Amino acid sequence: MSRRRKIYEGKAKILYEGPEPGTLVQFFKDDATAFNAKKHEIIDGKGVLNNRISEYVFENLNSIGVPTHFIKRINMREQLIKEVEIIPIEVVVRNIAAGSLSSRLGVEEGNVLPRSIIEFYYKNDELNDPIVSEEHITAFGWASPPEIDDMMALAIRVNDFLSGLFLGVGIQLVDFKIEFGRLYENDVMRVVLADEISPDSCRLWDIKTKEKMDKDRFRQDLGGLLDNYREVARRLGIMNENEPTRGKGPVLVKSD
Ligand code: TMP
Repeated sequence: MSRRRKIYEGKAKILYEGPEPGTLVQFFKDDATAFNAKKHEIIDGKGVLNNRISEYVFENLNSIGVPTHFIKRINMREQLIKEVEIIPIEVVVRNIAAGSLSSRLGVEEGNVLPRSIIEFYYKNDELNDPIVSEEHITAFGWASPPEIDDMMALAIRVNDFLSGLFLGVGIQLVDFKIEFGRLYENDVMRVVLADEISPDSCRLWDIKTKEKMDKDRFRQDLGGLLDNYREVARRLGIMNENEPTRGKGPVLVKSD
């Protein structure tokens, strides 16, 4: 498996050269990081769950006409994707106040926002992914005005879709982060959704108990991350109760 060429390694995923030109293999690691990787742990089985949850979300987005990089899941930890040029902007959509919005602006966590808010962050670990405005993005050439328009329009569609999807299984979509890429096909460039959508990149609260079911369990040392990710997958109906998530390969059964 490891003879493939590694194209890029991030905090939670690795990209390998794909089987055909224009494709890549996206591998989900078990690494959990927060605060720009100052906090780091391996959580056995997280990658398997995120692979499945992200597959489910991207497949559904593809089917409602939101263009994405996703082609198909290959195995427990890998999916086949279209090679794109990642736009170095993290797009955050917020429905309920939490996280850095609450700490930066003093809005109480849990307040429903008067409308969904879109924010942009410049993807740059050395600078700790600072929040930026459209002015910064266009002035420094990270994305063009039409690309920003595309990202915002797609972000709103993703928010509407995800909000409904999670609401239907008793989960509130508080906020999420998405990334986009430029897909070059026959001399035409399109902005498509890339990266992943999983409990690593969303805030998900149980609608009744307000229990956190996302990576805040790790960021805030609440414990039980895997159980909560499994519960998200279970509610979405995408994982059998007894399906293994550890993905360490076949288990040897003793014959005696
Ligand atoms: P924030 O409140 O910390 O700015 O996070 C907003 C959303 O973005 C939240 O759903 C978590 C997600 N997120 C990431 O996916 N990656 C990151 O590096 C950060 C800081 C947030």
